[in-house]
Amino acid sequence: MGILNKIAGFFINAFIFAWDFGLFILNILTPSLKPGHVVPAHAAGHNLTWPEYVAPKEGDSRSACPMLNALANHGILPRDGKNISFKELNTKVRQTFNFAPSFCFFVPKFSADFLNRSYWTGRFDLAELSLHNAIEHDASLTRQDAALVPDQGKPDPGLVEDLLKEATGKTSDGSPLLTIPDLSRALSKRRIDARRTNKAYTESLFHNIFGSSNSSTMLTIFGGRITDLTPMLMEERFAENWEPRVLSRFGLTMAKFNGTVLPVEFGVKKNASKN
Ligand code: HEM
Repeated sequence: MGILNKIAGFFINAFIFAWDFGLFILNILTPSLKPGHVVPAHAAGHNLTWPEYVAPKEGDSRSACPMLNALANHGILPRDGKNISFKELNTKVRQTFNFAPSFCFFVPKFSADFLNRSYWTGRFDLAELSLHNAIEHDASLTRQDAALVPDQGKPDPGLVEDLLKEATGKTSDGSPLLTIPDLSRALSKRRIDARRTNKAYTESLFHNIFGSSNSSTMLTIFGGRITDLTPMLMEERFAENWEPRVLSRFGLTMAKFNGTVLPVEFGVKKNASKN
């Protein structure tokens, strides 16, 4: 049975990566979406109007992922963060953030697998996604390490402030912008600090790449804009009139995303060896 699952997993992943590459090519061949029209009609956030933000209440379930928590805080996912189907997660992430359908299947399927549930019929609470060393890992930019705090469901304002302070870029209208080197530097500092302060600290290439991938969404989907990242990372709330900065018709593919993730991760190694 185990070997059959592994073979099935191999073919599913091969299919996802081929599909993703097909979407990457289609994005090159088709015109981009117009700014102001990225979130599809009939989805929350269409016309730059987001459902009301309500901060989580005692007993609500929240994850180590700021962006998924924001979906619950705005009622795009259930406000209590509970009993969500993996299929619903796929749809809501695609509609809200304009990630490609390949990514939106891959990550929820990966999550269903590490929770030992079926992607097709299974359900989860947001807090379950924070299983340590599945996707959640040490040295995050917005959370203290799992060994140091009881709950990964809330951002650490001090860490978020440290990250936002790293921004050295400027938009054409002069507002602050987080760049690839800024993010690499923030990750370097965070890893060095976590290694020093957390006795239970662990690190692997796999989790470093996951860390760079998670945080690279700040540069792609959020275009590095500090004005949009501040409410998202501090309060897990969409800025007024926000929409994804990725305008590709078939969404942000993993193939394209790697063009940001890899330079961010390579930058971390270089900076880390200088420190
Ligand atoms: C598709 C389903 C998704 C799942 C299952 C998921 C899961 C996670 C988990 C478990 C973490 C914690 C990682 C850590 O320890 O740092 C995380 C962090 C994060 N994720 Fe997600 N996520 C998803 C989608 C997204 C999307 C669509 C975005 C952006 C639009 C996003 C952006 C982030 C960011 C910025 C972090 C914080 C990284 C940090 O603190 O260093 N995630 N995610």
